Amino acid sequence: MQFAQRFGPWAVVTGASSGIGEAVARQLASKGLDLVLVARRADRLSALSAQLHAQGGQCRVVALDLTGDAACEQLVEHTSDLDVGLLVHAAGFGLGGPHLDRPLHQHLEMLDLNCRSTVELVHAFLPGLQRRGRGGIALVGSILGFHGVPWSAHYAATKAFVVSLAEGLQVEAAPHGVDVSVHAPGPTRTGFFERASMQAGSAADPHSVAGHIVRRLRSRRVVLTDWLGWLIRLSTSTAPRWLRVRIVGQVMRGMTHHR
Ligand SMILES: NC(=O)c1ccc[n+]([C@@H]2O[C@H](COP(=O)([O-])OP(=O)(O)OC[C@H]3O[C@@H](n4cnc5c(N)ncnc54)[C@H](OP(=O)(O)O)[C@@H]3O)[C@@H](O)[C@H]2O)c1
Repeated sequence: MQFAQRFGPWAVVTGASSGIGEAVARQLASKGLDLVLVARRADRLSALSAQLHAQGGQCRVVALDLTGDAACEQLVEHTSDLDVGLLVHAAGFGLGGPHLDRPLHQHLEMLDLNCRSTVELVHAFLPGLQRRGRGGIALVGSILGFHGVPWSAHYAATKAFVVSLAEGLQVEAAPHGVDVSVHAPGPTRTGFFERASMQAGSAADPHSVAGHIVRRLRSRRVVLTDWLGWLIRLSTSTAPRWLRVRIVGQVMRGMTHHR
């Protein structure tokens, strides 16, 4: 089956106003999909929509805070007339540094976006995809989602949630013709680092990460999207889990701010 037949005609992409989500949206458009672009910054979504429209695609902008009450219901309302074949949930953010340096409300906002909205969106879009008997859901985890990570403990826990959820759903959805994939980027050059108060020496290009995601929508494994991620996984693969926690903790200490 052709890509657009399987995952089109419409794809919903969250986090489409910047970084990985924006790059995924551009690549899906180049493959002939029409797009629902979701994030809070309407101006950026409208600019992207105008560019993709000029290239011949259809776009719908839905400016939403996905942590808001009923945000998911609003997104469903805005897309109820469309034949959606793919959901890419790339909206997310991290918090770096000592856990207690952040007020609780920031942690809860991250939990709402990275975890709660994921469950809500899956619950909203998976039934329709299963009824069609084809399509996909792509969730964005992280290289930090495989075990505990000091100095980014809660962010890593939210991504472990995403990875585990996707692995389970993958098996449940497959007999209905739906591909649930989960993608684990390593450090990638996006707005992520500023919001997370982290810094990284080297980072992958979001377009190359997005290319990997789009090519591996049917993958049954957790997809490592870049060579840095591979390197990090490989270099710690023989170590026991407790040691991996400490090694990655040393790396994260250098990437985060400490008073
Ligand atoms: N960059 C990395 O190194 C890296 C590594 C591993 C995993 N990831 C994951 O990759 C995903 C994409 O992040 P990125 O790197 O592309 O960072 P980014 O450039 O900061 O993009 C984050 C996206 O999420 C949207 N967003 C944030 N809060 C939102 C909210 N409350 N409601 C709706 N949309 C919201 C942002 O748009 P608005 O601000 O306009 O709402 C933006 O489009 C995230 O899940 C992140 O955890 C990133």
